[in-house]
Amino acid sequence: MSTITIEVSKKYDILVEENLLRRSGEEIRARFPKAEQIMVVTDDTVDGLYGERVCESLGRAGFVVHKYVFPHGEMSKTFAMMVPLVERMAELAMTRSDLIVALGGGVTGDMAGFAAAIYLRGIDFVQIPTTLLSAVDSSVGGKTAVDLTAGKNLAGVFHQPVLVLCDYSTLHSLPEEEFSTGMAEVIKHAVLMDPELFTFLEANDAKAHLGEIIPKNLIIKRAHVMADEFDTGKRQLLNLGHTLAHAVEKLSDYEINHGNAVAIGLAAICKAAHADGLAEDITDRVIFLLKKCGLQTECPFTAAEAVGVLLNDKKRSGQTINLAIPKRIGECYLYKMNVDRLEEFYRSAIG
Ligand code: NAD
Ligand code: GLY
Repeated sequence: MSTITIEVSKKYDILVEENLLRRSGEEIRARFPKAEQIMVVTDDTVDGLYGERVCESLGRAGFVVHKYVFPHGEMSKTFAMMVPLVERMAELAMTRSDLIVALGGGVTGDMAGFAAAIYLRGIDFVQIPTTLLSAVDSSVGGKTAVDLTAGKNLAGVFHQPVLVLCDYSTLHSLPEEEFSTGMAEVIKHAVLMDPELFTFLEANDAKAHLGEIIPKNLIIKRAHVMADEFDTGKRQLLNLGHTLAHAVEKLSDYEINHGNAVAIGLAAICKAAHADGLAEDITDRVIFLLKKCGLQTECPFTAAEAVGVLLNDKKRSGQTINLAIPKRIGECYLYKMNVDRLEEFYRSAIG
């Protein structure tokens, strides 16, 4: 088992181990002797695969277990889906010493985490990630949110989990496409901070080495979260490749999924940064690795189309945009670019 400890406004452990779901109850009980009730939040797919295993383990550890199951997919990450959850918790008279357990991918973690942040002005929650993306990224760092009509993740708060239990044997049931989405974030992390991990991924099949790869990714995520819990500085480096990715997702009406959009964004930022004299030439290596992981790297939209969407983004403010630039594999920096220059910058990469 690997244990990685995060120290921010809360200190918590991430346990990474195969078959950990069966012991989820005892791991939680060991840390929360006073908790009586647990609300497990999960989607219908994950419930069918792992719900019983987790609920049984929690029951054996003496918790009174309730479950809130919602339809899988991003469409569910809304206020409307969260209301019955918090109403149910209130009916059950759950207190601040009780817990929410988020069992699933990033959608579940984001919504359950947000519910935990607002119910009784904040109760504790445990993340049990079951997608590669949630294992290496969204289960750690305390970003919680739901989507609004105007865009994704527009309503949310920072609320750190109190424990993360990562049982990577659950990743074997993930559809290939979902695994690839997680690999886009893994490759992003390697470009950010870990050249040895990048070389390892070039030569090996990630699926066969999850027990080594996941902790390495969590150490990279930890470095950014601990340096900048509230995302005002260094944590923004985690947006590497994501600026263009958000535009690509929107332009394609979400036909291009997040993983492929990030892959397109990573390939483009490497190429554009090198053409602009901001970075070494790492484009071929990055594109090779993205493609090896089944990801798309060709952008079907022009720089003018993408930048049009970026500039209309309601979350953007001011005349500059902070871009994460990959200087070389393993080293990135933030670069403030005037928005007037953005179209020309991306044109060199995507036309
Ligand atoms: P997801 O939670 O929708 O999971 C993807 C699909 O995989 C779902 O259909 C789910 O039912 C299924 N699934 C989950 N685990 C499975 C398993 N083990 N076997 C088979 N199927 C399984 O999506 P995701 O990709 O995990 O997360 C995306 C979400 O995460 C987005 O909403 C994004 O905004 C958010 N996110 C949050 C952060 C953060 O820091 N909070 C970071 C990155 C992304
Ligand atoms: N996934 C980006 C972050 O946690 O900041």
